[in-house]
Amino acid sequence: MTFKTITVIGAGTMGRGIAQIAATNGCKVHLVDFSQDALDSALSDYKRIFARLVEKGRMTEEETTHALANLSFSTELTEKQNADFFIEAIVENLEIKQKLFKQIESFASDTAVLATNTSSLAVTAIAGACVHAERVLGVHFFNPAPLMPLVEIIPGIATNANVTSNVRKLIDSWGKTTVLAKDTPGFIVNRVARPFYGESLRILEEGIADAPTIDWAMREIGGFRMGPFQLMDLIGIDINYTVTETVFAAFFYDPRFKPSFTQKRMVEAGFLGKKVGRGFYHYTTDVQSEPVKDPALGEAIVNRVVAMLINEAADAVLMNIASREDVDLAMTKGVNYPKGLLTWADEIGPAKVLDRLQELFEDYGEDRYRPNPLLKRMVREGKTFY
Ligand code: NAI
Repeated sequence: MTFKTITVIGAGTMGRGIAQIAATNGCKVHLVDFSQDALDSALSDYKRIFARLVEKGRMTEEETTHALANLSFSTELTEKQNADFFIEAIVENLEIKQKLFKQIESFASDTAVLATNTSSLAVTAIAGACVHAERVLGVHFFNPAPLMPLVEIIPGIATNANVTSNVRKLIDSWGKTTVLAKDTPGFIVNRVARPFYGESLRILEEGIADAPTIDWAMREIGGFRMGPFQLMDLIGIDINYTVTETVFAAFFYDPRFKPSFTQKRMVEAGFLGKKVGRGFYHYTTDVQSEPVKDPALGEAIVNRVVAMLINEAADAVLMNIASREDVDLAMTKGVNYPKGLLTWADEIGPAKVLDRLQELFEDYGEDRYRPNPLLKRMVREGKTFY
């Protein structure tokens, strides 16, 4: 099946980016949002972005004219916005999304496919409101959608396999890197990435190092593009905290995902990060504390956080959330990790990673540090991930 016409519902941060990708790749796109302001701001964004792309030589004037001509805007979703493929990017609320999907089904043709860009709801729960759940799936883009290469494709439990593979082909044809993920909380990236923040916060709470030092270690020794505290400040500490809380609850309160009081207090204080001028760093003064550039300390920090990340990546493989290749791709293409975590595990040596985890587990006696069974099994059998 070919998808020629696409309707994107929600013209906020994500929807407008997704619509831009589809229009640039030759699809006719209806962008729908009940807020005229959102549509107006999307259009002015497109004009600005396309002008810049022409300036940089990434698109020709003619290509941007075509892309813009492919886009139409509407505050109402009716039969006029009928399409082969619908992508929903509205507010993150199950009842509201279910209502929208029912509305789409009331006029969509039998062959139309319906997708949600949800980050934290179950695709299956959204599809559960539909008459034809077999044509509903998740397509999870990353922010900013036109720039981030990764898209997680998430079939719900009733999704037809052909629907999944057709959508995957379409999104691949847009130049994206797709990975297949099981419909479980956080899919791949938002699940596996939890310790990047959680373990760093724990190190901070214990007073082992301050935020600038942990960030320095993760960047300079770990090779991550940004440190965890810098990144939390950028994402918004409130947003990052909500994801952590949602994942924790969705995992029936598994202690591995327990949120941190430090982060909660930051939210309560209104220190939400860069957007308000204060988070883990101050953005309105020049006064910043300097990192303690102690290589041994830095090494210890990186080893601890990376071991926890590898443990989580191993769990995603153990629980069949995704293939090992897709778990690695997801973290390099979705959140710019310097290398895939399982590749990294092989480089360090699974036995060494297991030693680090076992030491933490023995020290603290907390379930959060329990080494993953797959990792233990591999070490016992002398195997590596690849
Ligand atoms: P946003 O708040 O920027 O945009 C949502 C837009 O939907 C708003 O313009 C709003 O007017 C419109 N809207 C809300 N209800 C509507 C309805 N019933 N009909 C028509 N329009 C409606 O939200 P954002 O950040 O773009 O998120 C959208 C979805 O994408 C959510 O499900 C979110 O979880 C998911 N997502 C967000 C990411 C992010 O980094 N912001 C990353 C990946 C997924």
